[in-house]
Amino acid sequence: MLKNKKIVLGITGGIAAYKAAELTRAFIKAGAEVKVIMTQSATEFITPLTLRTLSKNPVYTGMFESGEPYDMAHIALAEWADAFVIAPATGNVIGKIASGIADDLLTTTLMAQNKPTLICPAMNDKMLANPFVQENLRKLAGAGYRVMQSGVGELACNVTGPGRLPEIPEILDELEALFTVQDFAGQKVLVTAGPTQEPLDPVRYITNHSSGKMGYALAKAAHQRGAKVTLISGPTKIAPPKVETVIFVRTAQEMHRAVMDACSKASVIIKAAAVADYRPRVAAGEKIKKDRGLPGIELVRNPDIIADIGAKKNKGILVGFAMETQDLLANARQKMIRKNMDMIIANNLRDEGAGFEGDTNIITILDRLGRTVALDKMTKQEAAHRILDHIRSFKAKKGPAGKK
Ligand code: CTP
Repeated sequence: MLKNKKIVLGITGGIAAYKAAELTRAFIKAGAEVKVIMTQSATEFITPLTLRTLSKNPVYTGMFESGEPYDMAHIALAEWADAFVIAPATGNVIGKIASGIADDLLTTTLMAQNKPTLICPAMNDKMLANPFVQENLRKLAGAGYRVMQSGVGELACNVTGPGRLPEIPEILDELEALFTVQDFAGQKVLVTAGPTQEPLDPVRYITNHSSGKMGYALAKAAHQRGAKVTLISGPTKIAPPKVETVIFVRTAQEMHRAVMDACSKASVIIKAAAVADYRPRVAAGEKIKKDRGLPGIELVRNPDIIADIGAKKNKGILVGFAMETQDLLANARQKMIRKNMDMIIANNLRDEGAGFEGDTNIITILDRLGRTVALDKMTKQEAAHRILDHIRSFKAKKGPAGKK
C-alpha cells in the first residue's frame, strides 16, 4: 500500500528523534520514497547526515539555506508529498501547528500543505498530560489530522508512563490508514480474538491453537478504515494492533463479561475468538500432584458468548466464525442461524493455507441474505478487508442500522 508513495517525514527535537532513522528505513522498506525535514532542535539529537544517507535524499533543515534564490522548499515539499508524518512530534510543534504558527521550515511547509498528515506525539508524561497540549491534540484531530496515541512505557526521563513514540509497526499501520478509504468512520466495531485458557490448577490449563492473528487483522483493518475499535483478546503471543481500546481476558467467562459489557455500544460485532466450549468445574487452588493418582477432570459448559449476543441484539451486525473439519458450509450455515448471526466466516482446518497459526486463510463468507462468497487463499489482512467489504455491503442492503 505504501509502494511509490512520497512521504515527507518531519522530525522535531525530542529524544525519540533517534528512532526516526529506523522509521525512515521502515518506510523505504515498505516501498515509499522519503524526504526529511528536521527542526533545528532535532539536529541536536540526530544528524542530518544519518537521515540523508538512509533516505537517499537531501535533508531539509532551514528556510534560507539552499542558496538557490527561487527554491521555495516549503512549497516544493508540500506539493511533492503524498502524505506527511511528524515523528516524533513534540508538544512545542503540536502547539505551533494547532495555533497556525509557521516559524521554521517544518511548520511553514505544514501550513502550506493539505495532504493527509499523521502526528506521532512523543514527550515526557507530564508534558503530554498538560491541558494545553491535550487541547492542541484535540484541535489537530478535529481539523482532520490523524493523531496517534503515544505509547506507554519507560521514558527517557526515568519515569514510566504515556509519552513514548508509538512503535514503528504501529506508525506504519497508521500511515497505511492515511491512504485507506474511511468507509467505517462513525462505526463502533467490537472484535474478539485469540483463544481462552481454562485453568485446571495454578500451572495448567485447557486451551486451543488459536493465534489471534485473524481477529487482530480484523481489528487493524476496521481501525484503518476509520472505525472506533474495541478489541477483546484472549492470551496470544503476538502484539495487538493499536486500536482505541484493547481488553485482555483469560477465560471464556471473563470474555463473556467483557463482551456483554461492551456489545450494546457496538454497531458491528465480530467474534473471531476461539472460545473454549468447556472448562474444568473446579480449578484446584494448589498444583495437582501426580502421586495422588490420575485425577478425573469434570468439565462444565462455558457460556456461548455469540449466542447470548444473538439472543438480545436488535440492531448492529453480528459476525461469527466457524472453524470446521467436515461439512464446512452446512455446519457454518446452521451455526449462523442457530446463534442468530448475520454473517459467518467459514474455514476448514484441513485446507492447506487456512487455520489458526499461519498468516493466510481460505474463507467462505455466508450471510442471512443467502449469499455465499468463496474466496481464494489470501493473507489474513486481505481476508479481513474482504470481510469488512462484505459487512458494508450487507449493511447497505439492510439499511443504516442493519435492522432485520
Ligand atoms: N463462540 C462463542 N462462545 C462459545 C463458543 C463459540 O462466542 N462458547 C463463537 C465463536 O467466537 C465463533 C462461533 O461461536 O464466532 C462459532 O464457534 P465454534 O466453536 O465453531 O462453534 P460451536 O457452537 O462451539 O460449535 P462446535 O460444536 O463446532 O464447537
